[in-house]
Amino acid sequence: MQESESIARAAQWLRSARRVVVFTGAGVSADSGIPTFRDADGFWTRYPVDEFATWRGLEGALARQPARLAEFLHAVLRPVAMAQPNAAHRAIAALEQHANVTVITQNVDRLHQEAGSTAVHEVHGSLFDVVDRRGQVLDTLSRAAILRIAEDLQRARHRRPIRPRVALALRPWAGIGPDGLYRPGIVLFGDAMAEPAWTDALAIACRCDCLLQVGTSATVMPAAMLPREAKGAGAKLITIDPQGGSGDIWLRGTAADVLPQLLRAAFES
Ligand code: OAD
Repeated sequence: MQESESIARAAQWLRSARRVVVFTGAGVSADSGIPTFRDADGFWTRYPVDEFATWRGLEGALARQPARLAEFLHAVLRPVAMAQPNAAHRAIAALEQHANVTVITQNVDRLHQEAGSTAVHEVHGSLFDVVDRRGQVLDTLSRAAILRIAEDLQRARHRRPIRPRVALALRPWAGIGPDGLYRPGIVLFGDAMAEPAWTDALAIACRCDCLLQVGTSATVMPAAMLPREAKGAGAKLITIDPQGGSGDIWLRGTAADVLPQLLRAAFES
């Protein structure tokens, strides 16, 4: 199918859908300056998953390689702290003017909400929330507070003794308080999904007519089940990604380029 034909068909599906789900991953925030996980410059190509994407791995990193842990967390936190929604987030928010839209995101950067999306399910939690052992939210940090942590980590990794300085830098976000352990409200490998976001997301995906999969490799379970479940329940599946796509239609390109184009084709013609 020609690219213009694909856009026209996807636009037609979007126009006629009663319920739309937009399922997003790191690629939707790439144009906001946040690296993805598995692209050439992605986090997991620079930092091994077993050391940096599990709580046990992170505890080990603090004990054995605090400077590298501080480098990793600075690399993650600074871009998120500096990020602003891009044209893709804004187009997804604008879609609400035309359809019943639910955003289901694996991202923890809060950019969909900042762009104006009102129904957002963060199935991997939020980097801004600080939670206790049971997952209860104790505090929600601002982008400025996250930037301060990133900068404190950057300083800590160059001054000895490194480990206590890194622990101190992390104190607003992770540590041991009067009521026990507290940590960021994000889902790492081996964790249960964020609730009630996940249960709601699964139910909503199974009831939608059209699912837009944007900027995700859709390799991490169980989140990657959502497009398959939606399709199995009869939804049209449109993928937007520069590298590869699955589903009924693949719109090849960056989210910030393709989504505004798709909205124009669907609702301005
Ligand atoms: P990945 O890094 O696995 O995939 C990013 C996808 O975005 C790839 O398919 C890229 O081709 C695409 N991409 C890159 N730039 C883009 C752009 N400008 N516009 C659109 N697409 C673009 O990231 P995720 O699929 O989000 O979970 O990863 C899923 C989960 O793996 C994350 O939530 C995180 C990670 O480990 C946990 O840590 C549990």
